[in-house]
Amino acid sequence: MFFPQFRARRIRGNESFRRMVRETTLSVNDLVYPMFSAFGSGIHKEISSMPGIYQQSIEHIVAEAKEVKALGIPAVLLFGIPETKDAVGSDAYCDTGIIQETIRAIKREVPGLTVITDVCMCEYTDHGHCGIIKDGDVDNDATLELLAREALSHVQAGADMVAPSDMMDGRVAAIREVLDEHGFDAIPIMSYAVKYASGYYGPFREAAESTPQFGDRRSYQMDPANRREALREAASDIEEGADIIMVKPGLPYLDILRDLRNEYNMPLAVYNVSGEYSMIKGAAERGWIEEERVVMETMIAFKRAGADIIITYHAKDVARWLAR
Ligand code: PBG
Ligand code: ZN
Repeated sequence: MFFPQFRARRIRGNESFRRMVRETTLSVNDLVYPMFSAFGSGIHKEISSMPGIYQQSIEHIVAEAKEVKALGIPAVLLFGIPETKDAVGSDAYCDTGIIQETIRAIKREVPGLTVITDVCMCEYTDHGHCGIIKDGDVDNDATLELLAREALSHVQAGADMVAPSDMMDGRVAAIREVLDEHGFDAIPIMSYAVKYASGYYGPFREAAESTPQFGDRRSYQMDPANRREALREAASDIEEGADIIMVKPGLPYLDILRDLRNEYNMPLAVYNVSGEYSMIKGAAERGWIEEERVVMETMIAFKRAGADIIITYHAKDVARWLAR
């Protein structure tokens, strides 16, 4: 059917028609809000490249977590900035580590808010890599044991779900096994299954103080040029027991998100990462784009590409805009 029988504009003529034929929707239920918990007290330090996002000590984290819950956002994703870092990231799996104390505080003071933790070593190692180093590179199998200990320690402190972001091979299985052994078979794993070695993580590394002190992450994170490989990464994580699989970054990888949506019948998350946030905030501050409009269009793009869950620093704003 072509013009003049077909007139695409007939169903765009008013907002009722547009609402009726809208194919994709966004809800506050789709959102997860990332937060950075810093050791100490009285800390509330804005990340220069991420306006509105802070490194905060526990009392401030708890206050913001209350706000997140009041906005109806189901979950937060926690990152820790420990007091001290060492070669083996000891604070990551210490029962009194920064993240463990933060989990306890949120679970105690903000009941009903779901706590997801990022499981990785880079925030806790002095060299800034996502595992332990042998011969100048991250040692995969030796790191697995530490990641499993880290995940277990988060769950013992009260985490509702763990999200390994390290990109070591076999980590989902290693974490699943240790959780099950300790009776935590009901705790889900959201795997950063498809995580690219991306320049878009730049602002995050300021936030988490996790810049690698030598080299880069290309020996463990994926090459941005690879699309088919994403399906292999996802397949192996599903096989190992991932309950939710994630694509990261978001906007530059919508094709990958759609590939996974078409291929797998699994809940799918997308991480709208720090650099994506900074670009929108920076352009909006200069008056170059309309922030609300561009953010909402970005969120819909994730849903349209197939995401069920959107991890985003815009979550609080989006929740407010949706509630209006
Ligand atoms: C830790 C981790 C990173 C991000 C999430 N978990 C950084 C990295 O891999 O370098 C990035 C999140 C963001 O940029 O917002 N491995
Ligand atoms: Zn890492």
